[in-house]
Amino acid sequence: MDKLKITGGARLKGQVRISGAKNSALPAMAACLLTADELFLQNLPMVNDIRTTRRLLHELGAEVEFEGSSSARLKAANIGSHEAPYDLVKTMRASVLVLGPLLARTGRARVSLPGGCAIGARPIDLHIKGFEKLGATVITEYGYVEATAKRLKGANIVFEKITVTGTENLMMAAVLAEGQTTLVNAALEPEVTDLAELLNKMGAKIKGAGTSTITIEGVSVLKGASHSIIPDRIETGTFLAAGAMTDSELELTACNPGHLTGIIEKLREAGANIEAGSDTLRVQGGGALRSADVATREYPGFATDMQAQYMALMTQANGISVITENIFENRFMHASELMRMGANIRIDGSRAVVAGKSRLTGAAVIASDLRASASLVLAALVAEGVTTVDRIYHLDRGYERIEEKLRAVGAQIERLK
Ligand code: EPU
Repeated sequence: MDKLKITGGARLKGQVRISGAKNSALPAMAACLLTADELFLQNLPMVNDIRTTRRLLHELGAEVEFEGSSSARLKAANIGSHEAPYDLVKTMRASVLVLGPLLARTGRARVSLPGGCAIGARPIDLHIKGFEKLGATVITEYGYVEATAKRLKGANIVFEKITVTGTENLMMAAVLAEGQTTLVNAALEPEVTDLAELLNKMGAKIKGAGTSTITIEGVSVLKGASHSIIPDRIETGTFLAAGAMTDSELELTACNPGHLTGIIEKLREAGANIEAGSDTLRVQGGGALRSADVATREYPGFATDMQAQYMALMTQANGISVITENIFENRFMHASELMRMGANIRIDGSRAVVAGKSRLTGAAVIASDLRASASLVLAALVAEGVTTVDRIYHLDRGYERIEEKLRAVGAQIERLK
């Protein structure tokens, strides 16, 4: 298993090109199942979740050819299987995103139940209720969820709770349903809007994506399209935190500052100097960081996917900060590893209280999930001495060449095979 070895203390300087958004690329790839024509996707991040999705789509009969460093041609001329097996789903929960398109295109989908993960229980009951509203019969047995329908029928679906992949799955199911579907209390995340844009290019009739009510007029067939994935706002936020924590000067290019309003505001409140251009961001260290409380919320609020990185940042801020996690029930696994590096953190239910500024020292730490890994890398960049981060397969699922990007701006970081 690969590890990262990081020697802390280096100031970073230079440009970092932000990759495409993993969480936008995954549903976009699943959308290829909705048409027999070719989808051409650009600005894909070459991370392990994308490779896992390719394996899953192959399994279902689709062809996925990567081209160059960030593009892919996807074609599901015929669907050969209706099943996303346990082997793949257990490594990537987002595999559930094939449920909606498979069901809509072929009337049948069987996907291994994802189960809990390091950050919470993460049920898919709201996806299932939505498919039932569209007229599908859904049976859960032997560890699998199986949905069948002759042809889905448009319906009014009110989400009890905002769900990102739930909204995406239902949107992909409804595009080929008969009649109109309304999704109420839909997720507003930019990844949802990006998917709607792609589906509309394929001939779907979706209105209101990016608001809490999405209306979908079903069509009988979709065609191929070409689409460029939006920049990864969480990778962007992670590098902003890196710049602010290490008292550095970084320019992030190919990003979308408009998708990070909540994150940028919070980092500025904490004392980071951030300047936004149309598709660039500059972060400059300099002053001392201050504590600032944060509570995670659905978009446009402060993203739960930035909570762990923000906690690492707060270990370097003067004062007490309270970090409240509202989206997932168990997303503080990084705290105990940060404490082993010298952070002063107390967990109280859904709140973490961080007292700073702490002197962090290098240690052997273990990554528990994707964003937790990123927070440990950030802490290691400011820690005295050497940190090794183990189980970075989590990091490799969602950050493209993170060690190369950091090394190019001056970090002392290497991958140990
Ligand atoms: N929920 C339910 N029932 C459902 C679906 C969700 O109770 O049927 C609950 C969840 O347990 C959670 C809340 O609703 O408490 C929100 O979950 P959501 O469904 O929005 O999360 P998700 O779609 O499974 C996506 C991202 C996550 C990100 C969350 C929240 C993808 C592939 N994943 O997950 O990304 O944390 O939205 O923004 O888009 C990551 O990239 O590291 C990551 C975990």
